[in-house]
Amino acid sequence: MAHQVRAVVAREKGAPVTLETINVPDPGPGEALVKVEACGVCHTDLHYRDGGISDDFPFLLGHEAAGIVEAVGEGVTDVVPGDFVILNWRAVCGQCRACLRGRPWYCFNTHNAKQKMTLLDGTELSPALGIGAFAEKTLVAAGQCTKVDPAASAAVAGLLGCGVMAGIGAAINTGGVGRGDSVAVIGCGGVGDAAIAGSRLAGAAKIIAVDIDQRKLETARKLGATHTVNSQETDPVEVIRRLTGGFGADVVIEAVGRPETYRQAFYARDLAGTVVLVGVPTPDMTLELPLLDVFGRGGALKSSWYGDCLPSRDFPMLIDLYLQGRLDLDAFVSETIALDEVEKAFKRMHHGEVLRSVVVL
Ligand code: APR
Ligand code: ZN
Ligand code: ZN
Repeated sequence: MAHQVRAVVAREKGAPVTLETINVPDPGPGEALVKVEACGVCHTDLHYRDGGISDDFPFLLGHEAAGIVEAVGEGVTDVVPGDFVILNWRAVCGQCRACLRGRPWYCFNTHNAKQKMTLLDGTELSPALGIGAFAEKTLVAAGQCTKVDPAASAAVAGLLGCGVMAGIGAAINTGGVGRGDSVAVIGCGGVGDAAIAGSRLAGAAKIIAVDIDQRKLETARKLGATHTVNSQETDPVEVIRRLTGGFGADVVIEAVGRPETYRQAFYARDLAGTVVLVGVPTPDMTLELPLLDVFGRGGALKSSWYGDCLPSRDFPMLIDLYLQGRLDLDAFVSETIALDEVEKAFKRMHHGEVLRSVVVL
């Protein structure tokens, strides 16, 4: 039996999204049907709408979501109907070389639901990042669901499904930020701010926030930045060095994705410090660095994939910390909106007015 629900669809490249009625099938083997309670609006949704990720239109957008499992298919035991879950982009296989080496975020055999959700005329939808949760219900692989404490609101929980997890994980999992460290974060959007919150959680002593937008620096301070640098006014590398006794930060997190900020991150780290790259560059971008600097500075250059997170370990832990008042996730929810306001939220996001608009169903 198919479920008819309302959903946000991007029908063609660059065109405004529309609210449609779609068919969501009952879960097959290994699948789960989830009643979506909240889903954040992310830049990636806009990239999908604009054809920047794939040409596989029509897309069903939305991928930072939490909800209640409504039904599960054959063989599913990890979640049961009634569970409050956060969705992640892909279920991992647990058996490939990457999974066996304890790095499932590099899994070669990730999967999503096999069955397709469709428009009423039968056209198959491509769910953004294998989720498609700007919808009253969505169909995912059961392995994309992680059960967390239902005391957290869905709007907050859903954030962990993408940008906020990427930022917290960049600091904690990839950067290995620890007690007493100095950390610099370049770019204080949702991802950078989450890296700041993660650094505070990990016990960093100094957290230096860098952005070109003064409003972003103010929010960064609320989330734990101890110093802020407007890089339109001063050279952030110099300021970071000055603030760290002339050396540079132990961990520098780049959350913009541009050559000039990659370069700043590279030079703002202490000798043997770690640079964590979480900002995603475009295919045309390159960066030239003197090899002697690469060799001579030691340390590590690491990119962070989805915060190198293990959903089953990290989602419940971060929700627990949130419920204990030790991790401010509420600060990321700038506004809650209805399903038919996604297009409006794209505009606000484009103007840098919000960290996250969250659709609440
Ligand atoms: N220097 C410093 N900050 C900059 C610069 C710059 N040259 N250019 C832009 N910024 C700031 C913006 O002002 C903004 O606050 O970087 C921030 C980017 O934030 P968002 O646009 O909200 O993006 P976000 O969702 O945080 O993602 C950041 O991480 O995962 C990736 O794909 C994602 O590449 C993107 C990055
Ligand atoms: Zn996202
Ligand atoms: Zn695998």
